[in-house]
This record gives sequence, C-alpha cells and structure tokens, in this order.
Amino acid sequence: MAKTSPKASAGRTGAPPINIGIGEKDRAAIAKGLSHLLADTYTLYLTTHNFHWNVTGPMFNTLHVMFMTQYTELWAAVDPVAERIRSLGHPAPGSYAQFSKLASVPDVPTTPPKALEMVRILVKGHEAVARTARELFPVADKADDQPTADLLTQRLTVHEQTAWMLRSLLEE
Ligand SMILES: [Fe+2]
Repeated sequence: MAKTSPKASAGRTGAPPINIGIGEKDRAAIAKGLSHLLADTYTLYLTTHNFHWNVTGPMFNTLHVMFMTQYTELWAAVDPVAERIRSLGHPAPGSYAQFSKLASVPDVPTTPPKALEMVRILVKGHEAVARTARELFPVADKADDQPTADLLTQRLTVHEQTAWMLRSLLEE
C-alpha cells in the first residue's frame, strides 16, 4: 500500500465541513437567534417552576397545577432549540452566566410576588419569548432553513396560546 503524505491525507480524517445548503453566515445568524430563544425559554421555564413552588392564596390549586403544565412544556422545549443550534454547527449555550446575558426575559424575582402578579409576569414573559422567536423567523425563512422555521412556528403557537390563557385570568 502506497504511503500518503501528511498533506494528502489532511481532510480525510475528522468531520467534513457542514454542507447542508445553508451558508456559514446564515447558520451563524440563525444559531445566534436560537441562542436568544434558548435563554429566554430556559429563564421562563425557571420562573414558571419557581412560581409553581411559591404561589399562595385562594387560587393556589388552579395556579400550582397550571404552572406545572406550563413549566413541563417549557422544559421539553429547550432541548429541540439547543439541538437545532448544534445541527447548524454551533455550540449551544447552557450556563446561567450565558443565559443571563442572552435572555430578554428578566431573571426570576427573588421575593415571590402575589399570585396575580405572577400571572402578569408570565404573560409578559411568554409575549417576550414570542417576540424573540418572531424576530428570527424572517432570517430562517430567507436562508431556506425549514426546520428552524418549523420550530419557531411551533414555539410561537405555544407562547401566544399560553399568553392568552394567562391573560384571561387577569381580565374581568
Ligand atoms: Fe411540584
């Protein structure tokens, strides 16, 4: 067997460059937007789980159970967002330091708010995450990134529906 020079064998080992039909610049821009979405989703997840623990008052049972449904959904949602970032060839952020820099949603209040204030915070949170997802949509659409567009569509549906449900608790 003929010996190959190190130069000739270069490129034959390790992973080949990503070649899925979405350019490097577009993949970077989409991954950046998805990182914001991941940070927002994670922060809203933690806020909702915190409120599940700390809610008090006559609506305790309703809200305790409702928040559990919501944080369970949010927890399941972070994984596909992170894995889409990886599929585009970028590292997924996954630390509190990164999330606090990337999130548009404020951190969880350290003193538990009153029950209806929790609901108000969550309405704003779901709407903020919807805006983050919507802002990224034209970037994904222009780059022909259908899986990201599909993921964003699913997330928009959930956040807008949850915002409506929570908002309804506040309306007369
Ligand atoms: Fe629980």
